[in-house]
Amino acid sequence: MNAAHQDIAATVRAVVQKHSQYADEALQNHALLQEDLGIDSIMLAGIVSELNSLLQTRVNVSPGDSDTLVSLSARFVAQAPAQVPAPMPSEETRNADPAALARAAVAAAAAFTSPSVATGDNSSSAGNKATMRDFVGNGTDPDIFTKTRRFQRFQRERAEQGHFWYGMASRGRSSNRARIFDRHEGREREFLLFASNNYLGLANDERVLDAIQQASREYGATNTGSRLIAGTTEVHQVLERKLAQLKGREDCLVFPSGYSANLGTIAALVGPGDQVIGDVYNHMSIQDGCKLSGATRRLYPHNDMQALEDMLARHEDQPGGRLIVADGVFSMHGDIVHLPELLKLAQRYQARVLIDEAHSTGVLGATGSGTTEHFQLKGRVDLEVGTMSKALGGQGGFVVGDAEVIDYLRYYANSYVFAATIPAPVAAGLNASLDIMAAEPERLVRLWSNIDYLKTSLDRLGFDTEQSNSAIIPVRIGDETLAMNMGRSLRRRGLYCQTVVFPGVAVGDARLRISVLESHTRQDLDQALDMLLEAAQENRLPLREALAA
Ligand SMILES: Cc1ncc(COP(=O)(O)O)c(C=O)c1O
Repeated sequence: MNAAHQDIAATVRAVVQKHSQYADEALQNHALLQEDLGIDSIMLAGIVSELNSLLQTRVNVSPGDSDTLVSLSARFVAQAPAQVPAPMPSEETRNADPAALARAAVAAAAAFTSPSVATGDNSSSAGNKATMRDFVGNGTDPDIFTKTRRFQRFQRERAEQGHFWYGMASRGRSSNRARIFDRHEGREREFLLFASNNYLGLANDERVLDAIQQASREYGATNTGSRLIAGTTEVHQVLERKLAQLKGREDCLVFPSGYSANLGTIAALVGPGDQVIGDVYNHMSIQDGCKLSGATRRLYPHNDMQALEDMLARHEDQPGGRLIVADGVFSMHGDIVHLPELLKLAQRYQARVLIDEAHSTGVLGATGSGTTEHFQLKGRVDLEVGTMSKALGGQGGFVVGDAEVIDYLRYYANSYVFAATIPAPVAAGLNASLDIMAAEPERLVRLWSNIDYLKTSLDRLGFDTEQSNSAIIPVRIGDETLAMNMGRSLRRRGLYCQTVVFPGVAVGDARLRISVLESHTRQDLDQALDMLLEAAQENRLPLREALAA
């Protein structure tokens, strides 16, 4: 390797280190970025974007490519112009040890300002093909706000094209229909709503609202503090008992949100020296929890149990504990974790298991208890984390498990200890929700009748709904602009579903995400199908021909 190549390799190493937050010695040259280091597509996009900016290259890396540090460096070496504006002074670094090289590269990276992100850049934000990944901070600009200015322009351009529709205000309840103030048109419009997680309709049930109202008179708006410091009421304790009972576990801990439940639980239980092994499609709260834990992170290809086994076997000798973590229902894909196989592997390789039940609680299983009930494995998963902001119609997160583990988390999960809890009225509303869910199983029956009808009809029309088997039905599109155009066409027709692009999914995996509710009528579903087909024709979305005929 000549000196220029060495400089590039050191820069690649430094940027990977900065984004992944691993210590230098953990970055083995031949470690696979995804499988051994847990670098997901979002982090990888940030790394590649920063390196392209630093090295003036146009390297493209797809999440599926099995890159190591060495092969990633080779891609940049192959493309770097002969006279790269040296990101680091090669004379000083040529003979330095690898750690010194990396430190020098980080310093140079920090001092380097990409021409495209320079302060005062008044050109178009990043061109028509820009995605949100182009505005992720990469530590190369002296002013941390520069990216916010560029993002403003990007956002404005997208809004002018009718693409940027995030955060429009609902006026009223979230049910099969919603009144939303359309900022672009400056008026309120009624939409068929397929973007809500109020799967069982509990968020609008009068008994839930009465319970919230009554508890707010009794307890006030909030207790203003952490559960450990004057934030606990009997209503919270009842909620924890009910959730533990629903899941068939000894104990439960309620967090301020599902996000903080994953963050706090993972970071409290695993640490440096341990391994945390996750599905590549896991929710961001899991990825963030793993990062925060300081453990070695590994990602296996989506639901690929053979790859998981290979990974467990390859690293069986690493001392320390092992946690396998996966979504029960994958939030952007709607399919279900292969739990029976996963549990067998966990047992074989002595790993603990955490399943995120955000989209399975209230949806899967005969009583809506979740993924374990769906597979008749209730009580067999070490830890189940969930949110109460979806089917349960409230707010907050939880974890259930063995009493001693939950008790440990009560004192070591920082996002529980150092954060105010959900207000007692919210907990009271959730208690009512759980009672209604148990007493009215017909809600779940209606939900599944709607899911089956919509999924079967979409498949028959030729849409790609992947392996969905839950209230989340994706329509896979791939190209981000095409997905944005589909979203715009649907909104024009009065259907509101989620348009998911990076960072919700990897670049190139854009999609519509349709959430089915028990409150949708057959007429709502038929109207939605008509609108989807019209939008597909308008935008020339390829449908699977055999089925579309
Ligand atoms: C799989 C998954 N986990 C965790 C969360 C976070 O839950 P919350 O909204 O309560 O923070 C979500 C929410 O979208 C989710 O889909």
